[in-house]
Amino acid sequence: MDSPWLQLDTVAVHAGREDLAGLGVHALPIDLSSTNPLPDIESGGLSYEAMASGGAPTAEGGAVYARLWNPTVARFEAALARLEHAEEAVAFASGMAAMTAAVLAATGETGRRHVLAVRPLYGGTDHLLSTGLLGTETTFCAAADVAASVRPDTALIVLETPANPTLELVDIRAVVEAAQGVPVLVDNTFATPVLQNPIDCGASLVLHSATKYLGGHGDVVAGVVACGSETAAALRRVRAVTGALLHPLGAYLLHRGLATLPLRVRAQQSGAQRVAAWLATHPDVARVHYPGLGGDPQELLGSQMKGTGAMISVDLRGGYEHARSTTSAVGLFTHAVSLGGVDSLIQHPAALTHRPVAADARPADSLVRLSIGLEAPDDLIADLDRALAARRPAAPADALRA
Ligand SMILES: Cc1ncc(COP(=O)(O)O)c(C=O)c1O
Repeated sequence: MDSPWLQLDTVAVHAGREDLAGLGVHALPIDLSSTNPLPDIESGGLSYEAMASGGAPTAEGGAVYARLWNPTVARFEAALARLEHAEEAVAFASGMAAMTAAVLAATGETGRRHVLAVRPLYGGTDHLLSTGLLGTETTFCAAADVAASVRPDTALIVLETPANPTLELVDIRAVVEAAQGVPVLVDNTFATPVLQNPIDCGASLVLHSATKYLGGHGDVVAGVVACGSETAAALRRVRAVTGALLHPLGAYLLHRGLATLPLRVRAQQSGAQRVAAWLATHPDVARVHYPGLGGDPQELLGSQMKGTGAMISVDLRGGYEHARSTTSAVGLFTHAVSLGGVDSLIQHPAALTHRPVAADARPADSLVRLSIGLEAPDDLIADLDRALAARRPAAPADALRA
């Protein structure tokens, strides 16, 4: 598995499974031990010390305690690191736990307290940073303003591309160049490693809400950060003391799901392209936000990002009322937050996922977000067509007659 020439689809199936044959098993084992027998005080203590410092357990001392290390989680981490072209990866109990650890690791160990965040961001990330809960001061800015906004005490730059929920693309290389050496964290949740590898563009940390495409089946809440070994050690030190390790059952499901990640993402993307093209012709739709259809820097498609993805947002001409009736009238789509699973979801970001965002940065009331699953695109289109027609707001002329 160390061969550098293996392609993504092969890596997705085989990575992180190198020790299985030696264990005499073919499927991924799940280790649920919360604690581990210690051979003796000295070797147990040395292993504890190694993990508390951000390293791996020693062979002699073992994993000691599951908040520090779990082999099922470690296998998933190894696989994700390979897929993201990173030296290592560190998995967490949720995407927000991963973001928290990334901010704490960057600020806590450097004494620098300033974070630069490129909007738009997922509402939870925006909320975490704007509250200053972690002792940070955050400046929100546009990608073009990064160079002017970096300060001597800037510890981390955070961006999403494509961004949640407007699908704006951010030029990672340009931000890295403007960052003046400050580490850049890219939330790669929407693109997945199938469509984008931010580390190849100079990013230092790649974060996923693994709850989404990596899990892909709506049954795991998890987060993961892929990065260099030094940063991974810092993240594990934070994880060990804050206790945000991913549960091994979640890690098992994620690792198992990685094998089909490339297939799922490509098939979901192909469905999304059909749905987005249809939405662009619909009279009730003012604008479709989808890479390749909007005003985003098109040159990033094909260079930074290998495809257009499977997330779509639309501005409805009928505004909030039409968003409300449409999200309530769908049949095949589930009206629910989250995204990236095999079944299609629809939700209203301003009221839900982006509710905590400051009013002047919150998504428009007319915006609904679609996560396209694996259903037949024609069935999804028929469902949306019915839902959009369910309670069309009165046209201005009708309203005057009423
Ligand atoms: C882009 C993005 N990043 C991070 C998160 C947070 O992840 P989690 O819900 O797993 O904590 C989300 C959740 O929706 C997200 O959409």
